[in-house]
Amino acid sequence: MIHIKSSPELTRMRQAGRHVGEILLALREQVEPGMTTGDLDRAAAAAIRERALQSSFLGYAPGGAPPYPAVVCTSVNEEIVHGIPGERELHSGDVLKIDFGVICEGFHGDSAVTVVVGGDAASDELTLRMIEVTRASLYAGVEQLRVGNRLGDVSHAVQCAVEKAGFTVVRDFVGHGIGRKLHEKPQIPNFGPAGRGPRLRAGMVVAIEPMVNLGTHEVVMREDRWTAATADGQLSCHFEHTIAITENGPEILTQIPGSH
Ligand code: MF3
Ligand code: CO
Repeated sequence: MIHIKSSPELTRMRQAGRHVGEILLALREQVEPGMTTGDLDRAAAAAIRERALQSSFLGYAPGGAPPYPAVVCTSVNEEIVHGIPGERELHSGDVLKIDFGVICEGFHGDSAVTVVVGGDAASDELTLRMIEVTRASLYAGVEQLRVGNRLGDVSHAVQCAVEKAGFTVVRDFVGHGIGRKLHEKPQIPNFGPAGRGPRLRAGMVVAIEPMVNLGTHEVVMREDRWTAATADGQLSCHFEHTIAITENGPEILTQIPGSH
């Protein structure tokens, strides 16, 4: 059963999404060489407190994993997702994935971005292209979130955008429905055939989150049992938005106007 959100529920999900978008934008602007990933987590925790929200991530413990110990995920370079913030210092040119979620009036929002520490000038052409391809693959998926399409159309669009550009798509982690729970049905792989899977209906809300690798799509888990990294140690990028499917097309709940 894929939950269909009522109009009052959607109103609350819009609020949750707006908080996530605003806070994530602020976090992104704070990133600079010399700070630690833990600094970013503390800034996020302060924003959650100021706005009287709750963290979607803190204490989250799916399927026997240890409870997630922070309010953001900070994954650096070859780390793909779910990196735990701590003492790690960020250096100019590091590729940082920030993943963030909050609960507002009982509903979750979830979004992630990839940024270059020290700004794009601290990076190289291939890395910047990979970041843009990952962002574009998310939007290619979003474009398919239309009433009457099938879920496979979304997965397929993401995969095509990535592979056409010569990168690979992670299989071990997927997007998801979102609402009163962070992870609801359906799972949304970033790969697979078009024309398959459930039909999309107005009122579905989903989080699409392509994870894109430079080399192999294979993943290794770190000893902390959360951090996922590329098996070959090469770069990975990640973007995520929470999106409502409406009669008028996709509505990106975690996007702040003028930003992306
Ligand atoms: N966007 C990530 C996901 O849906 C957020 C994970 S939160 C964590 O998997 F708590 F599990 F780390
Ligand atoms: Co997510």
